[in-house]
Amino acid sequence: MDKSQEKICHELDASPEKGPHEDGRGSKCKTEEEFLSYKEVINRAAGIAWRFPLIEMQGVPLRNYIVQKWSNISAFCPDPSDMLIATYPKAGTTWTQEIVDLLLHNGDEEACKRASTSDRFPFLEIQYPPPIPSGLDLLKNMKPPRVIKTHLPIQLVPKGFWENKCKVIYVARNAKDNLVSYYHFDRMNQAQPQPGPWEEYIQKFMRGKVAWGSWYDHVKDYWKEREKRNILYLFFEDLKKDPRREVERIMRYMDLSVTDDVIDKIVQLTSFKNMRDNPMANYTFIPKIMFDHSISPFMRRGEVGDWTNHFTPAQSQMFDEDYARQMADVDIPFCTSI
Ligand code: PPS
Repeated sequence: MDKSQEKICHELDASPEKGPHEDGRGSKCKTEEEFLSYKEVINRAAGIAWRFPLIEMQGVPLRNYIVQKWSNISAFCPDPSDMLIATYPKAGTTWTQEIVDLLLHNGDEEACKRASTSDRFPFLEIQYPPPIPSGLDLLKNMKPPRVIKTHLPIQLVPKGFWENKCKVIYVARNAKDNLVSYYHFDRMNQAQPQPGPWEEYIQKFMRGKVAWGSWYDHVKDYWKEREKRNILYLFFEDLKKDPRREVERIMRYMDLSVTDDVIDKIVQLTSFKNMRDNPMANYTFIPKIMFDHSISPFMRRGEVGDWTNHFTPAQSQMFDEDYARQMADVDIPFCTSI
């Protein structure tokens, strides 16, 4: 580790005493001369051995650094005003985050470009080797109310979220498109294990042997608890089909009220094309050493039904048969085309 990295680590270790930064950029890590963004810190994180392995935690495969810090993560206690956006990876997290931020800022586009998605929404359980800040580091530097991201299955969400009755938005995406998106993400994200060949990846996904575990258990367990725990359960496909209606549902759930014109503006600003071109939302702010968009862009297709371009008819049939078995105990209205 070189001198500059040592300095950043020292700052991170000292973070509990630090207040939020004046510009509201929760993740900024102050060195003597400057504030460093997530992007800048990652760029300085030379020498990291990427492709972190998975370790099972209570039966759920998670990245090794997350498991190492599990007791700190599960002890995190949110403020009642904090909100959680929970998803299985690649189900529409970033899209929902942008909608929520725009609603909170009455559609003010510039306000929502104050910082990158990673800087605006702390990712609760994410942990990296130093000097890259963890989700808990970012949370320490931000004052409530915060909009927090998680991919944790419901049983691993820190109990403080339920005790404090925090609002929770869950977004689910049909299994086949979710799998395709995850496969391409695992190709480009150097922090995830190598996906391996497509045919093998389908099997791993079906057996829940990918990071954050089984898609099937994830979507089912939030679904079963949605009424009891007042979770707003959304579908990627509905956001695509009728974004206006879904933005209004999110607004009502958040106890907000914005004008029809603002709703229209939010729908427009959060279209796939606009988000793909928004440098604060399209993840190009993560340096290539971690997210290699030349392998596959983060904002890849943003469609419903792209799975048809990946699954062979035989793979699709095999997947559907297994799906029917794994989902037999629930009736969640997923659609694979719109
Ligand atoms: S992550 O890494 O878990 O936070 O990823 P997540 O944001 O959940 O999912 C990324 C996929 O969502 C697509 N996306 C969108 N689709 C339509 N409209 C909008 N505005 C939008 N924003 C993100 C993104 O392209 C990824 O899906 P694929 O199918 O790979 O394109």
